[in-house]
Amino acid sequence: MNAQATLQAGDIEQVMGSLLTDIAATAGLQMIHIGIKTGLWQAMAGAGSLTPAEVAARADVAEPYAREWLNHQAASGYVDYDAATRTFELPPAVAAVLGDEAQARLVEGFASMLASMTVDNALVEEAFRSGMGVGWHQRSSAHWHGMDLATRAAVVPALVSAWIPALGEVEGRLRAGAKVADVGCGYGALLLALAEVYPESRFYGFDYHDASVAQARRSAAAADVADTVTFEVADATAIPGDGYDLILFVDSFHDLGDPVEALRRARQALSSDGRILLVEFAAGDTLEDNFNPLGRLLYASSALVCTPNALAQGATDPLGSAPGAARLTQVAHDAGFTRVRRVDVDAPMNLLLELRP
Ligand SMILES: C[S@@+](CC[C@H](N)C(=O)[O-])C[C@H]1O[C@@H](n2cnc3c(N)ncnc32)[C@H](O)[C@@H]1O
Repeated sequence: MNAQATLQAGDIEQVMGSLLTDIAATAGLQMIHIGIKTGLWQAMAGAGSLTPAEVAARADVAEPYAREWLNHQAASGYVDYDAATRTFELPPAVAAVLGDEAQARLVEGFASMLASMTVDNALVEEAFRSGMGVGWHQRSSAHWHGMDLATRAAVVPALVSAWIPALGEVEGRLRAGAKVADVGCGYGALLLALAEVYPESRFYGFDYHDASVAQARRSAAAADVADTVTFEVADATAIPGDGYDLILFVDSFHDLGDPVEALRRARQALSSDGRILLVEFAAGDTLEDNFNPLGRLLYASSALVCTPNALAQGATDPLGSAPGAARLTQVAHDAGFTRVRRVDVDAPMNLLLELRP
């Protein structure tokens, strides 16, 4: 019996429906983004029922564009539509999310990364066939920029307000003057933020990617913190210095070609009571645990961005973007850490592990 014969009525339509949903969602992100850029969401927030002409006037955009944008958002469920009066209203919850500056930057960051993935996919397609890698340095700069926007929007506030305090006495050490490293620091947003909060501490960012390090240095100079924050080109397996009280790996660990060796080096570089904070996405331990929207996003970025980077660095068993706590704990044990604790924070999208030798 061939596969064709086992099809039930409606099977094909269901798959076509899923495909259409995905195509529409991809276009929808662009529409959300353009609403942010043109101020359409803010123009509607708290304004009650509006006609397209009223929305256009409030946002100072041309009416035909406002109308099509509203039609799209109504069809997508982000805007309520009253057919009797042909007016549109922004529900308060949508206004709260899309009118929020940080969420707007997050959308902008993802829009930038997804646009660059489209451009970079010719390289990745070739790598799928050859099995070779595509390094972070080979990607379009829009990807590096988008990552920085997303980190500033979603990670910096949480790190400063909740994640560092959740490490207990580590925070006191940062107040008094500690030595902190960030491995795979990208554009350096995390250390730049921490330097403002903990002026007595010294911060050292490392990344193998020279263009990211150059940008991080420019940002440190512009923020006037270059005397307490330095950025250097270094591979995670060979970070310079020692005596670090805290070493961060934020959304960089799964990208590494040799994560075990990176942790071994970090372990040597810690002070006597130093800790590692490993921040990854909140993936479950099994594939089927991740059959949800976050899992879809993680496996896509894993195949298109993170695994190619790890393979470019010679990884033989890349972690992928959704390693989960059990696999990360095993890697930490392999690198010689005996104490691994899941940090208890309210962070539905993230998984935080504190590692101690
Ligand atoms: C997904 S980005 C995260 C950047 C930053 N931690 C953040 O949260 O915005 C991963 C970073 O890891 C860096 N990276 C990849 N492989 C590396 C390696 N072997 N050593 C050091 N950095 C590496 C990349 O250049 C990139 O900046």
